[in-house]
Amino acid sequence: MSSASFSKQEQSEIDFGFSKVPLPEKQGLVDDVFHSVAAKYDVMNDVMSLGQHRIWKDVLVQELHPSGHWRHLDMAGGTGDVAFKIVKAAGLDSRVIVSDINQSMLDVGEERAATQNMLGQVSFRQANAENLPFEDNSFDGYTIAFGIRNVPRRELALREAFRVLKRGGRFMCLEFSHVDVPVLESIYKAYSFSLIPSLGGMIAGDASSYRYLVESIAQFPSAETFRQLIGDAGFARTSFTKLSGGIVAIHSGWKL
Ligand SMILES: C[S@@+](CC[C@H](N)C(=O)[O-])C[C@H]1O[C@@H](n2cnc3c(N)ncnc32)[C@H](O)[C@@H]1O
Repeated sequence: MSSASFSKQEQSEIDFGFSKVPLPEKQGLVDDVFHSVAAKYDVMNDVMSLGQHRIWKDVLVQELHPSGHWRHLDMAGGTGDVAFKIVKAAGLDSRVIVSDINQSMLDVGEERAATQNMLGQVSFRQANAENLPFEDNSFDGYTIAFGIRNVPRRELALREAFRVLKRGGRFMCLEFSHVDVPVLESIYKAYSFSLIPSLGGMIAGDASSYRYLVESIAQFPSAETFRQLIGDAGFARTSFTKLSGGIVAIHSGWKL
């Protein structure tokens, strides 16, 4: 999209980690990060979270409780983790679209789906969360895990989520949040700011992408502020649950 298609307000600066960049430039920078880390993304997730991301994703899917002819959109779905868990939970009649702006991430996901014989139920579609190529009222559920903080115009993505969900459909978001236990907070900060970029350098050969990821976590709004943003997009009965002392939060909202 050219900068000409952004309104005056949107030409303002926006956070990219701890830096400020013009809004139209952010997506390109985010895309560079995920093109660079795609091949090592899954292994880095396990290393960085000490395997914890699998448990958080399990909790997300348990809470969603998909079943039967479930039609689902896993947005910013990357390499497919959440989608695979949803079809396993919902059964053979369910269908999940993994959508992501980044084809490198989707390519890794599609290969994993093929290895796990899931291509009959899981499909992959490149798209920007801010402007979805899906019809209104198409899905029973919409998830976005560790994706929304990378999206430049989150309010647009939330409105698109609302549009594509059916009435009675559920929005769920798993995202990093803010640790509320003081001792844990200092350990977590030390771990994320010093160790994670070094691990990213060693394992993925890219420390600066992991520095961005850590900084973007610190810049993400509080769970309460984000809950209000979800409500502003039209969702009802908005709520969140913090896990692991507030390292992550699971947000929920309904299209009623
Ligand atoms: C941290 S990864 C999360 C992947 C996966 N959901 C998971 O939990 O492992 C963030 C993903 O958000 C995607 N993303 C960033 N901006 C996006 C946008 N505007 N629309 C769709 N996906 C986007 C990135 O390409 C990347 O795959």
